[in-house]
Parts: sequence; C-alpha cells; structure tokens
Amino acid sequence: MNKACSGQISARDVSERKEMNCGIHGVSFSSSATPSERRLSALARHLISPTESCSCSASGVSASITSSDVGSVFSHVARAPEDPILGVTVAYNKDSSPVKLNLGVGAYRTEEGKPLVLNVVRKAEQQLVNNRSRVKEYLPIVGLAEFNKLSAKLIFGVDSPCIRDNRVTTVQCLSGTGSLRVGGEFLTRHYHQRIIYIPVPTWGNHPKVFTLAGLSVKSYRYYDPITRGLDFKGLVEDLDSAPSGAIVLLHACAHNPTGVDPSIQQWEQIRQMIRSKGLLPFFDSAYQGFASGNLDKDAQSVRMFVADGGECIVAQSFAKNMGLYGERVGALSIVCKTADVAGKVESQLKLVIRPMYSNPPIHGASIVAAILRDRTLYDEWTIELKAMADRIISMRHQLFNALRDRDTPGDWSHIIKQIGMFTFTGLNVRQVSFMTREYHIYMTADGRISMAGLSSSTVSHLADAIHAAVTHVA
Ligand SMILES: Cc1ncc(COP(=O)(O)O)c(C=O)c1O
Repeated sequence: MNKACSGQISARDVSERKEMNCGIHGVSFSSSATPSERRLSALARHLISPTESCSCSASGVSASITSSDVGSVFSHVARAPEDPILGVTVAYNKDSSPVKLNLGVGAYRTEEGKPLVLNVVRKAEQQLVNNRSRVKEYLPIVGLAEFNKLSAKLIFGVDSPCIRDNRVTTVQCLSGTGSLRVGGEFLTRHYHQRIIYIPVPTWGNHPKVFTLAGLSVKSYRYYDPITRGLDFKGLVEDLDSAPSGAIVLLHACAHNPTGVDPSIQQWEQIRQMIRSKGLLPFFDSAYQGFASGNLDKDAQSVRMFVADGGECIVAQSFAKNMGLYGERVGALSIVCKTADVAGKVESQLKLVIRPMYSNPPIHGASIVAAILRDRTLYDEWTIELKAMADRIISMRHQLFNALRDRDTPGDWSHIIKQIGMFTFTGLNVRQVSFMTREYHIYMTADGRISMAGLSSSTVSHLADAIHAAVTHVA
C-alpha cells in the first residue's frame, strides 16, 4: 500500500516524538529537536494531516494505482490537493463561460481585466537592454548590492537611524515568499525562541513557510467576524500571553486576507507591548504603496518599530507594488542593535541562502534598482502606483453602491472600510460555491475577493451574485 496513505510516516513520527503536539495548525515541537528533524516531521504532517483518512478522498488526495503506474518507482506518490489560492485560478481556467470572473488571484488587473506591466518598468527594462556593458554573471549570494541598499531605504525611510548606523542587513531574496522563508530558516538556526505567532486569519502560505523553515507556528486573534474589523482585545490578550522572546508576524499594511489594519494608535500599543514583553517583530510587507497609494504612509508601522531602537525583521515584496510578480524580486532586512551584529547576521544569512538557491536572479532586481535610483523614474512609479491603489478604492465604492442600489440585505460598509487589494466579504463557503456554480465567479473559499480583479464592467455581475447568494443561501 501507498506508504503515505498507510499512515506509516505520520504514525511513526507522532509516536516517536511524544513532545510533538497538535496545537493550532497542528504544529509544535520540542525545542530539543534539530532543525532537520523538525522539518522532516513538518513535511510528514503536510503529506498526511491527522484528519486525512486512508482513502484520502476528503482532501482530494488520490492514491489509487492505475495500470499505467505499475512499475514506476513513484507509484506510491499520492496526488496532492491544489493550493487553496492558486487552485482558484486552475478552476477558473477550466470554466468556458463567457461571464466568468476570477477574483481569487492576488494580482492587479486593468479596467479591461488585463495584467498590467507598468510603463516605468518597461522604461527601466529598455535601459537595461540598451546598456551593452551589462552581463549575465552570477550575483553575490546576498544579491544586487544597490538593490539591497535602495530597498532598505524604501521601507525604512531615507533618513532611517538603522541605515545611518549601518545596523541593518538587507539581502535580496525570491520575492516576499522567499524573504519570509530565508528569515524563518535564519531564526530556526540562530534565535533562541522557535515559536512564531501569526494572525488568524492570515495569508495561507504563512503557516507552511514557517513550519517548513523549522519554526513552531501558533496564532493570535486578529479579525472579528461580527464587527468585520480588528479584534484588538483578542490580539492584545494573545500576545500578552505569548512566551518571552516569541516571534510575532505582523502584516505591515493591507492585511491579507481581511483588509483590516490597526490604526496608528493601535500600532503604538502593539509596539509597546511587543517591546515590553521582549517579543521579536517580523513584518511581512507585501503591499507597500497599495494600501493608501503612499509608500511612506504604508511603511509607518515598520518605521515605528525601527524608531524605538529595537530589533525587527522585514520581508519585502516588489510583486504587487511594481507589478513584478513573476520576476520574484524581494528583500529580507534584519535590523540589529549594532553594525557588528548586523555584519555577523549577514554572514549567516549567506549560509542559509547558498545551499538553497545559491544566489538570486539578476533581472528583476536590476529593474527595481533602476527605478529607485532615478528621481524621474521613481516619481513616475509613484504616480502609477497611486493610480493602481485609486482604481482599487474606486472599485470598493462601486461595489458598495451597487449592493446598496439592490437593497442587498446586510451591512456592506466593510467593503469601503477595508484596505488594500482584498475585501473579506463575510460570505460563507456555501454562498461562495453558489456564486461559482451559478455566476461563474471564482474566489477563495473564505469569501475573500480581489478588488484588483474587478472592473466597472463586472461590478454589476458581482453585485447580482452577492445579492442572490445572501438572499437564497444561508
Ligand atoms: C501577505 C502576503 N505576504 C507575502 C506574499 C508573497 O508574495 P510574493 O512571494 O509573490 O512576493 C503575499 C502574496 O500574495 C501576501 O499576500
């Protein structure tokens, strides 16, 4: 029988590792386990979650061996379920309806529903192509030096004390995901506390990235479904009971999937609490500029934590704000107390990166560096970025108005209150599947819709679908 499906891996793992428990996300390890033991256990649990029975049918895992499989050394490999977010696009692509609408994907679309390459990116690329002196040599392990310096300035501010004092190390990584993973791997190896707290809900990849990096994932309350706003009391209570030194993952702005951010006053209280308890903040900054249209404003939360002189970690992505999704451009910054520590941290980051992918790709980072170094291109970028943010905000208003015009039952004001690319609609899983079945509208099962995937011409179709879902499906 299929080894994974027989439960051999998980059963042995679980029985051998008595200290492993199934807390939130089923992830918790003794601190005595080595990183590779922890990773192996985590991997086994990803292959078989305790709720997956031998037939594995509930999760779409199929282990049946067909005649064509016989003889393959891989015939025991079980079919894994689609990624819950990227799987939405897979389902959308299979739908032949002319009215189909994909609101699952977290990528910007124009009013015409098309992917957008920013003009400023095209200009920067043209400059790169025209420069005959450019070669395709390997980058250093930590990436393009100028990109790293400019990325740090972008998130921390040009006059940031951590840059002035040379106590931040920034390394180019594979977009936001790669930056989170490298940061997680570094913490597993070199930080005394292996517990990371992530908000509920959060981007679906967070628990997987950190678990496989060797950290133990726990959660803190973040979203209140009743108010459709921040559960600030729950957040404070949960972080207050976190063990000293625990890592706390914070979305720098435009929280995904809820679109709910703390106010500046709440950020200040969070900062005070994190510092007083000696917790380690790890920011995920995937939407700088997308929330408000202003790069500095969207970096405010991060800058508050740097201004107090304490340490923090930041994973930056240029996927959304420069539209460089597939170029995989991002950066990991670790702000330390001294330049000496920052230098040592960087030397260890190289040891994390080298055996993982050796060094990062050159093209995307060169585009970013070309834009950030040049005042004219930078200004053009901010204008295009603001236009994207404004279009998203306009879609929020159009959808809200369309539901109001239809007298759709319920309070929909959260659509205009939430921030960034996504609206967490509050639609339940049955209503979501009704909308997909009857209206060919695709979104994640938690009712998250990408406002960037909507346009003036598709708003009424979405509003009709939401109206029908809430009036016909409980
Ligand atoms: C909160 C959050 N973090 C990180 C990422 C990673 O994106 P990428 O790896 O494409 O930069 C995303 C992408 O959707 C995200 O929403």
